Amino acid sequence: MHIDHIGIAVRDLESAISTYETILNSTCNKREIVESEKVETAFFETGESKVELLGATSSDSVIAKYVEKKGEGLHHVAFEVENIRAELERLREEGFTVLNEQPKKGADNKLVAFIHPKDNCGVLVELCQSV
Ligand code: CO
Repeated sequence: MHIDHIGIAVRDLESAISTYETILNSTCNKREIVESEKVETAFFETGESKVELLGATSSDSVIAKYVEKKGEGLHHVAFEVENIRAELERLREEGFTVLNEQPKKGADNKLVAFIHPKDNCGVLVELCQSV
């Protein structure tokens, strides 16, 4: 397992991209809309891990609701695993609240699933596996 990316919820994706281009002194290398989540993602390569900016594409997107309630900020930490189904099963057996019965297709050619923040010291954890 390693940290594949950290996800940051933002209000205005264009402005956030510009901010992170300055912070990281690099350019956003990938943008992708995830229709099922009603979000647009923007990735920055930072060594072995990435930064994923998440902007809502609709007012009923989970990211729109998150930003409304909590403001912009750290949304999730994503760990890459080799076998996401096996890891989900293992964590379910350990008593964690898995938010997705089955992994679903996420951004960046990954299968993804989330573990509820209440079980992870307040941090939403994403498991992801390259496909
Ligand atoms: Co993510």
